[in-house]
Amino acid sequence: MQVLSVCSTKGGSGKTTLATALAVASSQDQLRVALIDIDPQQSLAMWWEDRGKPDNPELITWKSSLGIRFLPTAIERTAQLGFDLVIIDTPPAILGIVEAGVEVSDFVLIPTQASSVDLMGNQEVIKMMEKHNKDFAIVINRAEARDPMVAEAMKLLKEFGPVITVTVGNRRAFRAAIGQGKAGPEVDAEKSKAEIASLWSAVKRRLRAQARKVA
Ligand SMILES: Nc1ncnc2c1ncn2[C@@H]1O[C@H](COP(=O)(O)OP(=O)(O)OP(=O)(O)O)[C@@H](O)[C@H]1O
Ligand SMILES: [Mg+2]
Repeated sequence: MQVLSVCSTKGGSGKTTLATALAVASSQDQLRVALIDIDPQQSLAMWWEDRGKPDNPELITWKSSLGIRFLPTAIERTAQLGFDLVIIDTPPAILGIVEAGVEVSDFVLIPTQASSVDLMGNQEVIKMMEKHNKDFAIVINRAEARDPMVAEAMKLLKEFGPVITVTVGNRRAFRAAIGQGKAGPEVDAEKSKAEIASLWSAVKRRLRAQARKVA
């Protein structure tokens, strides 16, 4: 079993939105997927309930009262249940919780918007990747078509670390989907579907590379 966390210390970067999209994409790709929501806001857990509490992806209830130090135990128990992949959604700003998510991960996806405050807001989380020697990649979310800032952001971000070449557009489908327990591509099959398919392929490649390293 492998663990993917979606992390950024900046709020509203699209962590939960991309976690839901990847949860659906990976479960449709024949993986048995568990979700762990360590954000006290519990947005991913609420999304799963709105989706009708499916078996795949399945939510592993995380009680924050237990204390974040129990996260490795929760991951071990999830592995024993036969899941292939865990996707962890993390909170913004609560560094101790974000770091706990990073520590148990095989790969970390860092969504960011393409504005300068968002880009600079990634420095803290990237330091965590270095501290824990974690494989990660940054993805630009809510990219506007023909916005020159997207290309500029891509260039700047490459100095911080690996950047996924596909960007996720600012699309109504993502906003509409989340409240219905759906993923963006399930609402608007056109552009968001191709973007999330490319994002999932990129993430899957990185997870496979990590698995080969461990083997
Ligand atoms: N690609 C997108 N296109 C359009 N809207 C988006 C996109 N990604 C995220 N959003 C919207 O932006 C807002 C923030 O997204 P989301 O909740 O996923 O971010 P987050 O990083 O999980 O936030 P938090 O830090 O509060 O946990 C939501 O209203 C969501 O619908
Ligand atoms: Mg969130």
